Amino acid sequence: MDEKETPQKDRRGFLAGAIFGMMGAIGAAIGVPALGYLLMPAKARRKEVWIEAADLANLTVNQPEQVVFQRERRDGWKFVTERAAALVVRTGEQQVVAFSPVCTHLGCAVSWSENEKHFLCPCHTSAFSTDGRVLTGPAPRPLDRFDVKIAEGKVLLGEIKQSAEG
Ligand code: FES
Repeated sequence: MDEKETPQKDRRGFLAGAIFGMMGAIGAAIGVPALGYLLMPAKARRKEVWIEAADLANLTVNQPEQVVFQRERRDGWKFVTERAAALVVRTGEQQVVAFSPVCTHLGCAVSWSENEKHFLCPCHTSAFSTDGRVLTGPAPRPLDRFDVKIAEGKVLLGEIKQSAEG
């Protein structure tokens, strides 16, 4: 009787161990990335991306330009490539500022007016100076700014930083 029970007990023990082992492996496979996602700050998860938007040599000092570029944007779980634009102003030999062309009132496309020497929104006539400030409303705040850096003669655009109210 004992001889028959021993192999069954061994088999049961082995199966229980295998099941617990698999459950542990599955739990770790799901739990470790989930814990990492929850515990790591959102900013640390985001990698810094710089997009080449223009040649510095093609920009004239104090002459705003609209530049169009391709960027990759995360949309839920997938990444989409889209066209985007920036209003770029070369303010010195090695200084460039870049603004989002999205009006801070209701989101219409802002563009440079050579006649007015301002950025103008066609929807409700908000005007912005070349440093992004609101000259006339109803826009409630300055144009949002891109992070900008210059490397090897190229103007690189980073994240858009939302401007403060006022
Ligand atoms: S959307 Fe630009 S002024 Fe209203």
